[in-house]
Amino acid sequence: MESTFFSGKRPWSKIKDQILSQYMPAYLSKVAKLGKPIILIDAFAGPAKFDDGSAGSPLIICHAAEKHVKGRYQAIFVNSQQDHHDKLSYVLSSFIEQNKVVALHGTADELLTKVRDVLDDHTVFLYLDPFGLKGCEFSIIEPFLQRNRTYSTEIVVNLNIPTMHRLASRHAVSAGRSEVAQIRAFHNQLTMVLGGNYWKDVLLADSIEPEKKADLVMAMYRDKILSIREPRAYSGSCPVREKVHSSIKYYVTFFSRHQDAMLLMNDAMCTAYHQRMYESWTEGTLFEDSNWQDIRDLQKLEEIVINSVSEASRKKSRLELWVDIVQKNFMQFTSSEYRKAIRKLVKENNLAFDDVRGTGKLNNDIRLYIP
Ligand SMILES: C[S@@+](CC[C@H](N)C(=O)[O-])C[C@H]1O[C@@H](n2cnc3c(N)ncnc32)[C@H](O)[C@@H]1O
Repeated sequence: MESTFFSGKRPWSKIKDQILSQYMPAYLSKVAKLGKPIILIDAFAGPAKFDDGSAGSPLIICHAAEKHVKGRYQAIFVNSQQDHHDKLSYVLSSFIEQNKVVALHGTADELLTKVRDVLDDHTVFLYLDPFGLKGCEFSIIEPFLQRNRTYSTEIVVNLNIPTMHRLASRHAVSAGRSEVAQIRAFHNQLTMVLGGNYWKDVLLADSIEPEKKADLVMAMYRDKILSIREPRAYSGSCPVREKVHSSIKYYVTFFSRHQDAMLLMNDAMCTAYHQRMYESWTEGTLFEDSNWQDIRDLQKLEEIVINSVSEASRKKSRLELWVDIVQKNFMQFTSSEYRKAIRKLVKENNLAFDDVRGTGKLNNDIRLYIP
């Protein structure tokens, strides 16, 4: 897979890149207001451009940074592979000449160890997108998770699910080979990447479907991330697959201390995933040119809204309710779908609101209740 990865964008790469493309502009516009120097790190950067000309993550990051935080950011791109480093240095040469980009030939681990020591109050975005799991040990993100909470730190990490199953080697373990040196090394690697051996109960179980296993392990990984000194942080994941029924290739997981990041990621992940699944489903059919949003069923969302308002111990604002809903239903609905559902419920008198701002309009501050 690695040798052909950059020849053209794979469907799963499109989902990953779309998440990044949608998230970066909104994220950078927000952190620009903090007024701190911004460090954008892509520690498994790749060559920046696919052979078919499409943009890889370094270009996506640079374009968003130029548009939203021009002159206020420093991007660092790391590649352990010489040819990828060379191509990236060529593609980004104008950024490098202007000292906006530093391209490094080395490993993610080496770079992140050094960067940690020079970070002060910087706003940091860390993107980790390895091919498999190698080089993405928990120990390299842990110090970033532990940064002072007054500094902005966001992490996006893509973990390869087939590699996870391969390293768990369930069949070899079932056959009594768990003490064989290679299986032990695999298990050790998995434990290092996931930050504990909690994965064993799930990935080595006989009775759980592979897809469910991946889902459970990623939920545990998010719990692990959130347990690091920071109970009030946010994390969520998006599965990345080629088609509705094909197996999951990656999970993209984010970490942030800011609820806005969760809301932005919710929109980016919901859109990228459902749009791609819709496209793969309609490809070659009469519906090919239709829009994924046209077939979204928002009745479930309306029910969720009504239940959330009914269960709330006080009248909550539209924004507060949305945060609650996203935390329980991450990636299921977008913010514009939520606003649409509220409009409909209010119009049909199933929902009423206190007009806190006195504008007569629906906004994030209105306090919702059941009439
Ligand atoms: C999946 S690709 C990254 C793709 C890139 N994010 C994009 O969207 O275009 C992973 C890249 O990381 C490089 N790599 C592998 N191990 C590494 C390590 N330990 N440190 C830094 N780079 C590494 C690989 O050579 C490859 O270029």
